[in-house]
Amino acid sequence: MKLLYEKSQEGRRASSLPPRTLPVPSLPDELRRERPPRLPEISEPELVRHFTQLSTRTFGVDTGFYPLGSCTMKHNPRVNERVVNFSGFRDLHPLQEEDGAQGALELMWRLQEILAEVAGLPAVSLQPAAGSQGELTGLMLMRAHFAERGEADTRRKIVIPDTAHGTNPASVTMAGYEVTPVQTDARGNIDVDDLRTKVDEQTAGLMLTNPSTLGLFDENIEEIAAIFHGAGALMYYDGANLNAVCGISRPGDMGFDIVHFNLHKTFSQPHGGGGPGGGPIAVRDRLEPFLPVPAVVRDGDEFRYDYDRPKTIGKVRGYAGPFGVFVRSYAYIRSYGPRLREMSEVAVLNANYLLALLKDAYDLPFDRLCMHEFVLSARTLKRQHGITALDVAKRLMDYDFHPPTVYFPLNVPEALMIEPTETEAKETLDEFVEAMLEIVRDASERPELLKEAPHHRPVGRADEVKAAKRAVVRYLFEDHPDLSGDDSSRPRQLEAQKGA
Ligand SMILES: Cc1ncc(COP(=O)(O)O)c(C=O)c1O
Repeated sequence: MKLLYEKSQEGRRASSLPPRTLPVPSLPDELRRERPPRLPEISEPELVRHFTQLSTRTFGVDTGFYPLGSCTMKHNPRVNERVVNFSGFRDLHPLQEEDGAQGALELMWRLQEILAEVAGLPAVSLQPAAGSQGELTGLMLMRAHFAERGEADTRRKIVIPDTAHGTNPASVTMAGYEVTPVQTDARGNIDVDDLRTKVDEQTAGLMLTNPSTLGLFDENIEEIAAIFHGAGALMYYDGANLNAVCGISRPGDMGFDIVHFNLHKTFSQPHGGGGPGGGPIAVRDRLEPFLPVPAVVRDGDEFRYDYDRPKTIGKVRGYAGPFGVFVRSYAYIRSYGPRLREMSEVAVLNANYLLALLKDAYDLPFDRLCMHEFVLSARTLKRQHGITALDVAKRLMDYDFHPPTVYFPLNVPEALMIEPTETEAKETLDEFVEAMLEIVRDASERPELLKEAPHHRPVGRADEVKAAKRAVVRYLFEDHPDLSGDDSSRPRQLEAQKGA
């Protein structure tokens, strides 16, 4: 598909502007352009076709099943888009006086209250804009807590299991702490024996996703909490997998002291591709004084920002946080009401349904009931037929399914991490199972079909190493290399970049 620049014809226009009647402002010569900007010149029908074609080349949760493990790509109900577009929300300026923004403040306060209940922890800050920023904020709270106790210099270590998402060690490093890795045991829990050797008076805390990225609920969570609290350390809950436990079990009750939510995953917010997110955190009483400012508080029937928090770690994001995400998540939660646990129950049911139908065809590293997601391995397919997790993922695209997360978590070879979410119908799950089973049959009967997949997508099998190392992300006009031939020294990824 050609770029707009390649379709451009001099003098062609998509619209015409009324004749200019205002005087032309005079500009100093040094500020004037030497020549007009290089913009595509194109007619309106061509323009409309161009973007319509592009829209058909993409894939999203609105076009097909998207079982991308740990990312919780669920349906975003359209009513939430309507609500967020109410002019009272949409047109509100973040610096609007408080008495003119009572509705928005009340919504944020109510969302805080709900999140506190879901977490089982009393105090919430909505500010962080993503789970990863919630992690960093939580670690900054730990630091402030230990600084107040005169232990900031001694407590330097954060324990992280080998199943952790990459943002966990990254946040630890950014917060100035050191990572202490802990192993996973044969049942997929944290290895408690290994853990005991790692926790001491230098430990600031644990970061744990529960259920883990293996989709397994840690069976020893109370014992783990006792180990950390016994050593004077804190427990951080990475809430990326909260979709499995909402209204069923609460991180605060499990012993966690700090929790982040990924509003965009657990509740509602179109995300992916860097879209907007929300990463509020909930904490125990003793950490509340350190939370970012402003806090949203209620005084009788009025709502206001509270900046009067002398021990605060400060601001972690502009204004009060990503307000549009709050509106969508609040609308989503309110539409479930007290039935919120059904969301998690169906997410877990759907995942176990898929697991039951797939576990004999693929390797299952930890043979237990799963939570909202599970991890299979393509290890046997690779050993017997040379078919890797990547081949399985690419072939699934030919069935119009988004691939699962692959090669993560790192402790499972040839990992395929599958998260169906609660919003998929049984027929869709059955079609997915059929595709996964057919891939296993094809692996032995016609492996080349899998090796060359995808066959029916706008972009074929990209050379991912070359695409990463020699990405062509700029159009170079006259100097742009001709990438249409099969010269292997040229990046085959270009089509994707042109279409992006
Ligand atoms: C387990 C886990 N932790 C943390 C994160 C980071 O969350 P975010 O993408 O909102 O920054 C993710 C994201 O996928 C995750 O899966």
